[in-house]
Amino acid sequence: MMRRKLAAGNWKMNGTVEDLTQLAEIAGAALETGPEVLLCPPATLLSRAADAARGTWMRIGGQDCHPAASGAHTGDISAQMLRDAGARYIIVGHSERRTDHGETDAIVRAKAEAARAAGATAILCIGETEAQYRAGDTLEVLRSQLAGSVPDDATGDTLVLAYEPVWAIGTGLTPTTDEIGAVHNFLRDRLIDRFGPDTGTAIRLLYGGSVKPANAAEIFAVADVDGALVGGASLTAADFIPIIDALSAA
Ligand code: PGA
Repeated sequence: MMRRKLAAGNWKMNGTVEDLTQLAEIAGAALETGPEVLLCPPATLLSRAADAARGTWMRIGGQDCHPAASGAHTGDISAQMLRDAGARYIIVGHSERRTDHGETDAIVRAKAEAARAAGATAILCIGETEAQYRAGDTLEVLRSQLAGSVPDDATGDTLVLAYEPVWAIGTGLTPTTDEIGAVHNFLRDRLIDRFGPDTGTAIRLLYGGSVKPANAAEIFAVADVDGALVGGASLTAADFIPIIDALSAA
């Protein structure tokens, strides 16, 4: 099973119109073959970002969606609206959403289902906290998040799973490559157990948490790491393009 590698950038609550120059430069590094390149700017920039990416191989995604298709939910954005603005992917269940907005596994699952219903691929994030890591509970936490938040009808086209240890996000800390390898191997086995060998090996597994140009190559050399979800280092072309290049070379 050949899984296409994916370099995904999440701008979080960063970026205004002037930053589209960075996005356009990054788009120039996206090729028809090799890793897929995706940027998820804030919703305010989505349609402009989609315009900037038109005619390039770069894809645009959203950072979150509401589980419902439409309705009385002031300030929220549906998956259909993100698709309409040009998003092909939607991040769901990021730890910042789980923490800041109290999102449970059930909510994350509903969001992943909403993304699929709108024709977008969900990038679903799971990961242990520092306390859970220190207690040696990482695999149990991931087992339960995976069971609770990944929809039963997930496929390689509708779902990407991102392993993001909460303590590694924005901290400059990362697990060792052995630890990342053990987790990705565990997740691959769980996906195969649940979805069977075809779908279980088709779903891409990203690592996320302090991926930088300096550590990208060693992380991408780990078995079953199909790419990365990158926060801070996706904000500039100078940082993100070397990460894309490291993924191409892996
Ligand atoms: P970071 O964020 O690369 O800034 O650590 C990663 C993420 O939250 O996806």
